[in-house]
Amino acid sequence: MATVLSTLESILVLIPALAANGSPVLLKSKGTPIDANMRFYDRRPLLGPGKTWEGLLIGLIYGSIVAFLFSAVTCNILILFGGILSSLGALLGDILGAFIKRRLGLERGAPAPVLDQLDFYSGALLMLYARGLIVNPLIIVSLAPIVLILHRLTNIAAHKLRLKPVPW
Ligand code: CTP
Ligand code: MG
Repeated sequence: MATVLSTLESILVLIPALAANGSPVLLKSKGTPIDANMRFYDRRPLLGPGKTWEGLLIGLIYGSIVAFLFSAVTCNILILFGGILSSLGALLGDILGAFIKRRLGLERGAPAPVLDQLDFYSGALLMLYARGLIVNPLIIVSLAPIVLILHRLTNIAAHKLRLKPVPW
């Protein structure tokens, strides 16, 4: 059964995705690469060293904590369920984004404007959709520029805090 989320519900299930996507940087580039340093047919890294199991786990934990807090405050279990789903979707979308970046010949950490910002956003939305939680297309489009700007600002902050070697 599909559920169309209200504007507030949509925002509250998507913020955990931002937390999930932004938290792996706390690892400061340490971690076990998901691709086990394997290469694809094009001899380029499958995903590259920027996608680690620890990053996946930390992202899922942070996203779930935010989802739990929002769910507790609103007394709405859907927010917990949706927030965890969107966090997982965001992390998987980011991994797919890295796969695409490597196929385009871009090194780990190289900027890929729009793809870098929208891979995790699309992943979150698709995962919600797959489990019957529908975000109104108008809300998706309205939030996209905000996601782009927030992603830019958090990456600049992470760079200034010396968590990330590049500000994107
Ligand atoms: N990270 C991680 N595991 C993940 C996602 C991210 O360990 N699943 C960490 C990596 O240290 C990564 C940092 O978080 O460098 C920032 O993530 P992101 O900006 O998505 O990675 P990039 O360094 O830009 O690498 P890529 O080009 O592969 O996206
Ligand atoms: Mg990325």
